[in-house]
Amino acid sequence: MTAMMNFEAIRELESRVLVPTYERFPILAVRGEGCCLFDDQGKKYVDFFGGLAVNSLGYAHPEILKVLRDESETLLHVSNLFYHSYQAPLAEQLARWAGLDRVFFGNSGTEVVEAAIKLARAYARKRYPTEPFERYEILAVQNSFHGRSLGALSATWPEKYRKPFAPLVPGIRFVGLNDLASLEANFTSRVAGILIEPIQGEGGVVEISGEFLKAAETLSRKHDALLICDEIQCGLGRTGRLFAFQKFELSPDVVLVAKPLAAGLPLAAMIARESAAQALSPGLHGTTFGGGPLQCRLALKVLEIIGRPGFLEGVRKTGAYFRRQLEKLQQELPVISEVRGEGLMLAVQLTVPGKAVVRQALEAGFLINCTQENVLRFLPPLTLEQSHVDALVEVLRPILAGLASQHKSQEVHA
Ligand SMILES: Cc1ncc(COP(=O)(O)O)c(C=O)c1O
Repeated sequence: MTAMMNFEAIRELESRVLVPTYERFPILAVRGEGCCLFDDQGKKYVDFFGGLAVNSLGYAHPEILKVLRDESETLLHVSNLFYHSYQAPLAEQLARWAGLDRVFFGNSGTEVVEAAIKLARAYARKRYPTEPFERYEILAVQNSFHGRSLGALSATWPEKYRKPFAPLVPGIRFVGLNDLASLEANFTSRVAGILIEPIQGEGGVVEISGEFLKAAETLSRKHDALLICDEIQCGLGRTGRLFAFQKFELSPDVVLVAKPLAAGLPLAAMIARESAAQALSPGLHGTTFGGGPLQCRLALKVLEIIGRPGFLEGVRKTGAYFRRQLEKLQQELPVISEVRGEGLMLAVQLTVPGKAVVRQALEAGFLINCTQENVLRFLPPLTLEQSHVDALVEVLRPILAGLASQHKSQEVHA
């Protein structure tokens, strides 16, 4: 019955029955193929949004579909009180890639951020059992995004997300972005862990400097705290490396991944160093759905594909090409003040709000995202081709030029 509803009827029904947490794009998505999404009218959209960095392999990848079909007829769920065949090999591979030892599986990025906060506190308690327990602080970086549950939200910077839900979790504090003095001043022996996105995604594709990351590592060692890299958006090949932190020869104690891990189904992983992982024991943490057989088997296929020779090189190549085209556009159009990012995690900073650009690009058949009011963010499938980039740039050029002149004339008339 519901499948027969037309777009207008669905919009009307949603407006009455959903908790109003989202502003949706005005399209009814019905199917996807490769790097493209199709709406109910058959209109095609080239997807530079990638389901918010989830659809790394694009839509309807034949190898993913094959695993999906096979496993869905075999075993969907069994609960974490039983063994199944796919958690262990997946954990082994993730740990090997991250240079770590053990994995806890959850369902979402937020859920493994929570797990990491708990792990840091559990580790500190185990190492320093004397009461009163004072080693509970978690540091996060200004401009960060780590999720919406109370713990993850407490480590998420924008006040507009946090303030309505205060009081939040005590003991979580922010240090200045790439600010070494602030990092050093706040990193005391009360700190159990520091959470860092090596490239801040929601914050507008902002890179954390190698110097800052190395200093965080040194201070973590000095104070026996956990260095936690949140690679939920920037990890698993997005930057053309398996993990963004690998740019800097860093050795985090915990690495968090989620979004693209199971090709569109919910799966997240907290990958931890042996000494830290041993702070948790049966009963201290858990989840009903995390690490199910279907998701883990899909994730093994995802890792197999992104680990193939040439795959990450392809991401780096297409990413570098894309970035060059954006930089060329910047030279032509002063409305672009900066181009940022690596691999296929790119952004342009505009001098004007970006919402209208997103809307016009959508009309022209391109999905892009705007974050931080005036940052256009691109998180396309990692299978993107140069021809997709060329097509987008051709569409963006007149939109941005028009926007710039519109703002100029508004200023003149103001
Ligand atoms: C860096 C980062 N951490 C955590 C999260 C939260 O992940 P999820 O929405 O899967 O809970 C996000 C989501 O955008 C993210 O980008």
